[in-house]
Amino acid sequence: MTEELHQSGVLLCSDISTDILPYIEGRDSKQIFVLTDENTAKLCAPILQSIPQLKEAHYVTIPAGDDFKNLESLAKIWSFLGRHKATRHSLLINLGGGVISDIGGFAACTYKRGLDFYNIPTTLLSIVDAAVGGKTGINFDGLKNQIGVIRQPQHVFIDPQFLSTLDEENRISGYAEMVKHALISSEKDWKEVTAFDIHDGDRETLKNLFWKSVAIKERVVAIDPNEKGMRKALNFGHTIGHAIESVSHEKEAPILHGMAVAVGMVAELYLSHKKCGFPQQILEQAVTFINAMYPAYAFGDADYEHLYDLMTQDKKNEGNRINFTLLGNIGDVQINTHCTKEEIFAAMDFYRNSVLSTSINH
Ligand SMILES: NC(=O)c1ccc[n+]([C@@H]2O[C@H](COP(=O)([O-])OP(=O)(O)OC[C@H]3O[C@@H](n4cnc5c(N)ncnc54)[C@H](O)[C@@H]3O)[C@@H](O)[C@H]2O)c1
Ligand SMILES: [Zn+2]
Repeated sequence: MTEELHQSGVLLCSDISTDILPYIEGRDSKQIFVLTDENTAKLCAPILQSIPQLKEAHYVTIPAGDDFKNLESLAKIWSFLGRHKATRHSLLINLGGGVISDIGGFAACTYKRGLDFYNIPTTLLSIVDAAVGGKTGINFDGLKNQIGVIRQPQHVFIDPQFLSTLDEENRISGYAEMVKHALISSEKDWKEVTAFDIHDGDRETLKNLFWKSVAIKERVVAIDPNEKGMRKALNFGHTIGHAIESVSHEKEAPILHGMAVAVGMVAELYLSHKKCGFPQQILEQAVTFINAMYPAYAFGDADYEHLYDLMTQDKKNEGNRINFTLLGNIGDVQINTHCTKEEIFAAMDFYRNSVLSTSINH
């Protein structure tokens, strides 16, 4: 049995092998391509290959990791489609994490000016975030997601069975986006997300929680698909989080996206408290919860200027100001909030102190 979200094309499968069939058999062209990375080729593709209707599909694989979400991999996908005579009626199925849905979505949108694509997310992060919402693209010239388009996939098939092979780090990373969705949504969602133990919580509860999380994202995207306004709610934690993520890559000790977003959320909760009146007591509870789950990220005063500089280059800024999405309370999102350099530095101080006090209390 599948469950569909508000007729958005996002489906929760109980078994993809049968649930996907109507969406393959009903198509005019039977020519199907499947994109994987080298991990999902081994761990996830066998499930699709066991479906008779997908046995004849053309499978194309790129190396795993965000470093390969680049022009070279994109060219490889385009060439593969060309070599196998893909037409505008062919279908591309993206089977993998956010790297695969981003680059595969972009390849599908651009090849012969666009063919249909389905996403089958296989990481928690891509289930609740990357595979839904229609943002596609690649990294270019050292900048993340610099080239891309927004176009919704025809369908997204979510099957929790893929998560069984995902490592702990990637599960926790994906959970950060669920924490974010709860914070921008409601007290009720927040309570549920904080009551769950991602380390050894049961699968059924996780499934219910991530399905709610997908619904939150989908609701926000439906109001503002092109990020002119309310979609910016999804950027909570990401202004400082992206800067931390970039610095970790520069220092050649990269941390996963969700880990950086966790740091960003703590710092931006502080800014929310200072600038928008986010309640002190919830601030303390949220910071304790996040710091207990995510590894502390070590950085010093010497990193502040560079982190700030990175924030000024964020593509979400308008004019010369750094654009934050902050919260007046859980579920009370305040977009386009501007903070001074001093306030941002104070937020970074707050994060570092909060990590220290968490480790003392442990
Ligand atoms: N388009 C969007 O709205 C959006 C939103 C958030 C993130 N993103 C992008 O998504 C990417 C991050 O997504 P991600 O964390 O899924 O990264 P990812 O696709 O690199 O996957 C993480 C790792 O898990 C492996 N993997 C995937 N499925 C697996 C499975 N079932 N079992 C075991 N291993 C598996 C992958 O091979 C990879 O090594 C970034 O490129 C980011 O920019 C896009
Ligand atoms: Zn994110």
